[in-house]
Amino acid sequence: MIKAILACDEDWGIGKDGDMPWPHNPADLKWFKENTTGGVVVMGKSTWDGLPFKPLPKRENIIVTRSKQDISITDYQFVKFADIKQKLLEFKETKDIWIIGGAKLIEGLFDIIAEFHLSKIKGIYDCDTYLPEKFIKEHYLLKQSSKLGEVSFDVWCKK
Ligand SMILES: NC(=O)c1ccc[n+]([C@@H]2O[C@H](COP(=O)([O-])OP(=O)(O)OC[C@H]3O[C@@H](n4cnc5c(N)ncnc54)[C@H](OP(=O)(O)O)[C@@H]3O)[C@@H](O)[C@H]2O)c1
Repeated sequence: MIKAILACDEDWGIGKDGDMPWPHNPADLKWFKENTTGGVVVMGKSTWDGLPFKPLPKRENIIVTRSKQDISITDYQFVKFADIKQKLLEFKETKDIWIIGGAKLIEGLFDIIAEFHLSKIKGIYDCDTYLPEKFIKEHYLLKQSSKLGEVSFDVWCKK
């Protein structure tokens, strides 16, 4: 199953100026690490560019781009958007696949995303990048919700 995992604020904002909009959030980062370690993380080129440390350790890192040919380096690889769905078939039986953003990549891969795992960060952070709240609410059902401190963790499943 292919799942997306992101954090968003109360307005479904996910990014600002190429970075995360809120202060360091240990609960969210712990949740992200626990879920994705050992799996495949797939991200858009802008998300990759904004990572403070890369590649993300103990995970296969796949970066989606239009502008480069497919390139494979020891611990991460660039894949053209046109090839990404085929590429993910290689891992489907053996590893968890997590689409980790940003918004452009999510919008391009809606047809293969079975679940959204969203940490909802308290507050509104004047973002410039958003998840499409209306689309997700129309096409996915909120199946599970739990809370740790001020962060709630929601799982939305495709209807
Ligand atoms: N809160 C969170 O959980 C979270 C998670 C991830 C990212 N973010 C934030 O989100 C922002 C970045 O998101 P974004 O939406 O601007 O960019 P993005 O999706 O990370 O990356 C966009 C780039 O990826 C490639 N790409 C993605 N989708 C494509 C498609 N459908 N077709 C062709 N190429 C595609 C293109 O690369 P080329 O230009 O190289 O062709 C495109 O310019 C940053 O602020 C980041 O910090 C937040």
